[in-house]
Amino acid sequence: MKIIIINGPNLNLLGKREPDIYGAATFEDFFADLQNKYPNVELRYFQSNVEGELITKIQEVGFSYDGIILNAAAYTHTSVGIGDAVKAIITPVIEVHISNTFARESFRHQSFISPNAKGIVIGFGLKSYELALQSLL
Ligand code: DQA
Repeated sequence: MKIIIINGPNLNLLGKREPDIYGAATFEDFFADLQNKYPNVELRYFQSNVEGELITKIQEVGFSYDGIILNAAAYTHTSVGIGDAVKAIITPVIEVHISNTFARESFRHQSFISPNAKGIVIGFGLKSYELALQSLL
C-alpha cells in the first residue's frame, strides 16, 4: 500500500504557526510517529508552498499510488488548477484540514478539492491525517 501525504502552503511552519489553531507539533515529528505506527504502509510526504509544484506532484503519483491525503491549505479555497488535478487522476484523494474550516472565516467554507475528493476529514487537528489514512486502509 503506497500512500502520500501532500501538504500545501505554510504547513511547513506547523509547530510555529498560530499554535492555538494548528497545534504545537511539527509535521516532521508527527509524520515520523505515523510511519512507525503503520509500518506496513509505504507512507511518503511532500510539502510545497508553490501551487504548480503541488499540481505536478498530484499528477506524478495520481496514476500509481493507492491513496493521496491532501491538505492543500489556502489553495483549497482558491485553486481551480489543484481541483482539476484531483479530478484528472485515478488515485483516490482524501481532503484533510487540521482546523474546522467551517467554524472559521466564510472564505474558508469554499473548497475546489471537495467535489472530486473520495472523502473529507476536517477539524481533528493532526489526527485528521491519521483518520484519512485509516479510511484508505
Ligand atoms: C488548513 C485550513 C486552511 O483554510 C488554511 O489556509 C490552512 C490550513 C487546515 O489544515 O486547517 O493553511 O488547510
